Amino acid sequence: MNILITGGAGFIGSHVVRLFVNRYPAYKIVNLDKLTYAGNLANLKDLEGKANYEFVKGDITNGDFIMKLFEERKFDGVIHLAAESHVDRSISNPTAFVYTNVTGTVNLLNAARHIWKDYRSKLFYHISTDEVYGSLGREGLFTEQTRYDPHSPYSASKAGSDHFVRAYHDTYELPVVISNCSNNYGSYQFPEKLIPLFINNIKHSKPLPVYGKGENVRDWLWVEDHAAAINVIFHHGRKGQTYNIGGGNEWKNIELVRVICRIMDKKLGRPAGESEKLITFVKDRAGHDLRYAIDATKLKNELGWKPSLQFEEGLEKTIDWYLNNEEWLDNVTSGEYQKYYDEQYLNR
Ligand code: NAD
Ligand code: DAU
Repeated sequence: MNILITGGAGFIGSHVVRLFVNRYPAYKIVNLDKLTYAGNLANLKDLEGKANYEFVKGDITNGDFIMKLFEERKFDGVIHLAAESHVDRSISNPTAFVYTNVTGTVNLLNAARHIWKDYRSKLFYHISTDEVYGSLGREGLFTEQTRYDPHSPYSASKAGSDHFVRAYHDTYELPVVISNCSNNYGSYQFPEKLIPLFINNIKHSKPLPVYGKGENVRDWLWVEDHAAAINVIFHHGRKGQTYNIGGGNEWKNIELVRVICRIMDKKLGRPAGESEKLITFVKDRAGHDLRYAIDATKLKNELGWKPSLQFEEGLEKTIDWYLNNEEWLDNVTSGEYQKYYDEQYLNR
């Protein structure tokens, strides 16, 4: 099988590429990535020189380039992760999200539709998010039947891309599958997202900006469990179907931040309570969704997937990874990014 993985130099994509390259030596894996601020080839250093792996630098918003790539490479399957992924950036610059997340997805769908001759042995797998379902109150879970109700420009662009994927299935019979996952955490996540940002800020004794009162709830899943779910769905998911993926692991932001502070105090040999003093309540995120929580029963019952790791263990592993990979962390947080982050923080 020739498989195209888009966004493979990003956080989740790098874990998916690693799993496929290592587990399936007979597959040829092509990783297509534009290498935006969030994409980093250092995330895949261990795969350099592997015979079944190739990196191609390119932009999914360039339709001609995508069509040509499909013509040349004869892909059997696509796992599409490339996206602008950060909600705060979508609030300050929504247009970039429309180009990459909507136009980029449609370019890939067009190429698959026109280049693939026999659809029976092909699959277009689109990776999406639980944010398309909107916000839950204190009760209830998102199921595959939950109505779409996106609030941020990011989730609106992901919802748009999901609709296009379904439309290509319904209109052209393109073989597709979609999964919608909850918040991921783990190694190689860009430190603008809550968990790695706070680990890095604690390390440097910088303020920990908790939005609003920290009452918002997220359902956290270890990234390698997400990659394992993607593997199962790619090989065994039913075409035309949607699968929700989630950890069944809800945390209020403020409680999660306190746990991170406690673990970091221990790891850094600081007195208990030291890191918590860095917590700073700042202006809330505009349109901030209160709660996300996933019902992953369909995936568990149909395909036998379940998360492998307890959250406390995963969080500790994650913190150890960031502390042991200082060079990676310093590289991605230096230069332009640090300027951008400091400006955003000052403007809150
Ligand atoms: P990320 O921001 O870490 O990585 C995105 C990757 O896409 C980067 O390598 C970037 O260079 C690449 N990219 C961006 N624009 C591109 C373009 N125009 N052309 C080619 N490549 C481009 O994102 P992530 O957190 O790994 O998320 C991956 C996917 O999973 C996204 O589709 C996201 O919506 C979805 N998702 C993420 C989470 C999460 O918690 N992070 C949860 C559910 C779903
Ligand atoms: O639910 C899946 C989504 O999870 C993915 O689709 C997105 O790509 C991913 O970025 C993530 O979105 P969130 O907005 O939930 O993640 P983030 O890490 O940005 O924020 C998590 C929570 O923490 C959210 O309630 C906002 C809050 N937060 C975040 C940051 C960066 C803070 O309080 N302070 C912060 O500095």
